[in-house]
Amino acid sequence: MSDSATDSEKGIGPTGVPIDETAESSTEVCSREGHLAASGEALLRADEVTAGYLPGVSILNGTDLYANEGELVGIIGPNGAGKSTLLKAMFGLVSVTSGTVELRGENITNRKAHQLVPLGVGFVPQTNNVFPTLTVEENLEMGVFLRPKAFRRRFGFVTDLFPILGERRTQRAGSLSGGERQMVAMGRALMMEPTVLLLDEPSAGLSPAMQDEVFFNTKQINSTGVTVVMVEQNARRCLQICDRGYVLDQGRSAYTGPGDGLIDDPKVVELYLGTLGHAG
Ligand SMILES: Nc1ncnc2c1ncn2[C@@H]1O[C@H](COP(=O)(O)OP(=O)(O)O)[C@@H](O)[C@H]1O
Ligand SMILES: [Mg+2]
Repeated sequence: MSDSATDSEKGIGPTGVPIDETAESSTEVCSREGHLAASGEALLRADEVTAGYLPGVSILNGTDLYANEGELVGIIGPNGAGKSTLLKAMFGLVSVTSGTVELRGENITNRKAHQLVPLGVGFVPQTNNVFPTLTVEENLEMGVFLRPKAFRRRFGFVTDLFPILGERRTQRAGSLSGGERQMVAMGRALMMEPTVLLLDEPSAGLSPAMQDEVFFNTKQINSTGVTVVMVEQNARRCLQICDRGYVLDQGRSAYTGPGDGLIDDPKVVELYLGTLGHAG
């Protein structure tokens, strides 16, 4: 941790390592030009998105983000940066006041969640993401209520991915461990066969062993072909598994690059991972 404000004046970051502004890296400061140049094939994209909860108070201030088909994209950043708001803005849960959200080139800005699910967008909120009094199987049924005929096939897919959910199918979700509940939440979203899955801090509040499992599961979901955009407070682990990451700061994408590049980028480490890296 930084022990004085003078450190930053000297260009020394919170962990005492000098910030080398000239260090070569594969990461870049987010710019419109860089985003537009790289995002031509994007499956899901946000362009200059401004959004907030109260009139006149923007939480997102022109955020750019894209995910290509099959990618695992991570979003990290300090508390309150707007990470959850960004996922919610892309899933129609927060009003986008300017800018656009597109899925496969189709403008889906401000489409509601119930309209987005049939289009192939899945969302797993950070909290209250299972029905605790319903069984595992009933939770998964809720996920597919729009297409009940698909239940058997999708239940097979989800329990192949998470065999423990098959074993616990008659157990109430509220009686499961945190890690198992997170599997139910992800499983429920997967029941609708999403092409892109938005995950908000799936590892939050779990033991280190269960966190490992969540990251493993996320990677596995992605390896079945589902594009994943995940927000994580566990920045290092997230960047380790993702193809590309974004550092969100004050409602804007600040840095972007390959996950392993961001982990090693001195600017990102000092500004965002120095303290966040200890979070999990
Ligand atoms: N439902 C809400 N109503 C009003 N303000 C909110 C609401 N949810 C979040 N905020 C505010 O929006 C900002 C960003 O929050 P959030 O997107 O949850 O950040 P993060 O997920 O990066 O921690 C914070 O200042 C927070 O207080
Ligand atoms: Mg959040």
